[in-house]
Amino acid sequence: MTPDMGTAKTFLLTIAALALAAGGVAAAMVYGGLYNVASTEQHTQVVYSVLETAMRQSVRLRARSIETPRLDDERMVQHGAACFRDKCVQCHGAPGVAQSDIGKSMQPVPGPLVDAGQRWRPRELYWLTRHGIKMSGMPAWEFHLSDEDLWATVAFLARLPDLTPQQYAAITEVRVVPGGSAPVAPGAASCGRLQAAPSQPADLQRGKRALYQYACNACHTIPGVTGSTPHVGPPLDGMARRSLIGGKLANTPENMVRWLRHTREVDPLTAMPDMGVSERDARDIAAYLATLD
Ligand code: HEC
Ligand code: HEC
Repeated sequence: MTPDMGTAKTFLLTIAALALAAGGVAAAMVYGGLYNVASTEQHTQVVYSVLETAMRQSVRLRARSIETPRLDDERMVQHGAACFRDKCVQCHGAPGVAQSDIGKSMQPVPGPLVDAGQRWRPRELYWLTRHGIKMSGMPAWEFHLSDEDLWATVAFLARLPDLTPQQYAAITEVRVVPGGSAPVAPGAASCGRLQAAPSQPADLQRGKRALYQYACNACHTIPGVTGSTPHVGPPLDGMARRSLIGGKLANTPENMVRWLRHTREVDPLTAMPDMGVSERDARDIAAYLATLD
């Protein structure tokens, strides 16, 4: 054996030993339960920085080709204020408003978003709001806010840094109309999901995503959807072959939409809650479920 070959062999053996040791440490962390998942323990600075950088780069890459509409319309900003008040304040707080207990004790802690516009372009804020951030507690709003709501929220985020607590209170004020039944806020009436045109063809892949955006997999084991195997509701594999839905309705696409949208009207005694599924989302989910045989 030449000295060169000897050096190469020692080198390879060292690499192999190091890889084995790293694997051993990782296995001990995972199977030995050594990594503390408590939200009362912060990540170390190194772990935090790595996660933060990975998140930032991931968002930048994915938001690159999104086109930003005009965001300076005053009605749009007011509409966004209502969305922010209804969907974001509980975790992020607002000028003069603290987060709820849920927002205060999360790890990572959700920031007040007054400086978000310095760190993110509008298209990145749109992407973050629409898709959420996995394993951080930042929800995805794609299935709960319309595109119009999402961009309006982004438009409002640009206004947020300039608002005093008094101005924030004024722009999100809930006014009770005398004689009217529901409280009305300046833009609030229109914040929420839009019903899509019923002519759109059902979209299987969208339906599959809707299943975990409506938390159906919290109760049902569903083929194609990652998760634990809960048994609160019946597993949905073989759904296409079943003759009845919930033991009540003939298994047709229209009836599936009805079951998903008006569950407790179909069966007032069922343990499945009304999940607030929109018409379009229900049709897409029904299309996906019809493929499970
Ligand atoms: C259930 C709590 C919760 C709600 C509700 C929530 N967020 Fe978040 N948000 C988080 C968490 C947690 C993070 C992650 C913070 C981090 O990674 O540092 C986050 C991060 C963000 C970020 C990136 C922040 C930054 O400083 O870089 C943006 C932008 C954002 N949220 C916007 C929104 C908007 C807009 C809404 C309302 C439509 C909203 N969030 C609702 C919890 C929430
Ligand atoms: C909190 C738990 C829970 C959640 C969340 C939930 N379900 Fe259910 N689901 C149930 C239970 C319980 C049943 C059985 C109802 C019965 O037969 O009365 C059921 C029944 C069903 C059935 C009929 C199954 C069969 O074999 O006839 C379908 C389909 C269904 N759920 C789909 C969904 C979808 C899609 C979602 C999300 C939009 C969802 N469920 C969310 C608990 C839940």
